[in-house]
Amino acid sequence: MNRILEPLGLYLVDSHCHLDCLTPDAWEDGLQGALAVAQQQGVGHMLCVSIDMENFPKVLTIAQQYDFVSASVGVHPNVQGGYEPDADELVKLAQDPNIVAIGETGLDYFRNEGDLDWQRERFRQHISAAKQCGKPLIIHNRESTEDCLTLLEEQGADEVGGVMHCFVENWEIAKRAMDLNFYISFSGIVTFKSAQALKEVVKRMPHDRILVETDSPYLAPVPHRGKQNQPAYVRYVADCIAELRGVETEDVVRQTTQNFFTLFKQAKPRCINGLDSLQTIEPG
Ligand code: NI
Repeated sequence: MNRILEPLGLYLVDSHCHLDCLTPDAWEDGLQGALAVAQQQGVGHMLCVSIDMENFPKVLTIAQQYDFVSASVGVHPNVQGGYEPDADELVKLAQDPNIVAIGETGLDYFRNEGDLDWQRERFRQHISAAKQCGKPLIIHNRESTEDCLTLLEEQGADEVGGVMHCFVENWEIAKRAMDLNFYISFSGIVTFKSAQALKEVVKRMPHDRILVETDSPYLAPVPHRGKQNQPAYVRYVADCIAELRGVETEDVVRQTTQNFFTLFKQAKPRCINGLDSLQTIEPG
């Protein structure tokens, strides 16, 4: 893959991964090894997404250590019992130049039950923080679509926009999210045979709103389904999207990378072979 992409000045972006959660023994050099494999596969940038305050220092350190990794700050909707930052604290933590987004946040009515008012309140705090610091939101939504979109609407999240990460909903929902200024990110789920409805959404997507991600270490795409996922595997997602849309993988790479840096304005694009890939982009 990289042999094809590099001469074109192109690289993939994994728009959502949890580098701090990878099991490092899977590579000889631990995380360094995982990042090297990703680069060999043409992945030039990764957004390492925060899930709780206990892990946040690790997430930030990784982003500070590698210039091709950016990070976010936030507490995942399923996390319970840990430290709960309010909007002001999130804004403070987001001042670091490596923090390009707020999240992952959102709602999850699948893994938590009962009165989930605490989830909605946490979500409101994250939206408020994003608006205060002008950074986009990374949204997790599972079996909570109506409430999720309603809250985004009510709280004026369209002011900053963001991404619906690991999207698995239908076209109507995709459209409503895009009307709210959100991008749609597809994960390895799109490669699953069972994901026929999702494949139809991919076909209908406007080219300037698509992102690709691994959500590693979770959700490894075919042909690695069931194993530990890693940023290198984002290429399988890009290949699958290209096939569904009847375009070349290079086109998907070029477009999704441009979309990523358009949304996450603070993330720094890198040069390959002295070419700034963003300058060579034409609308496709
Ligand atoms: Ni995630």
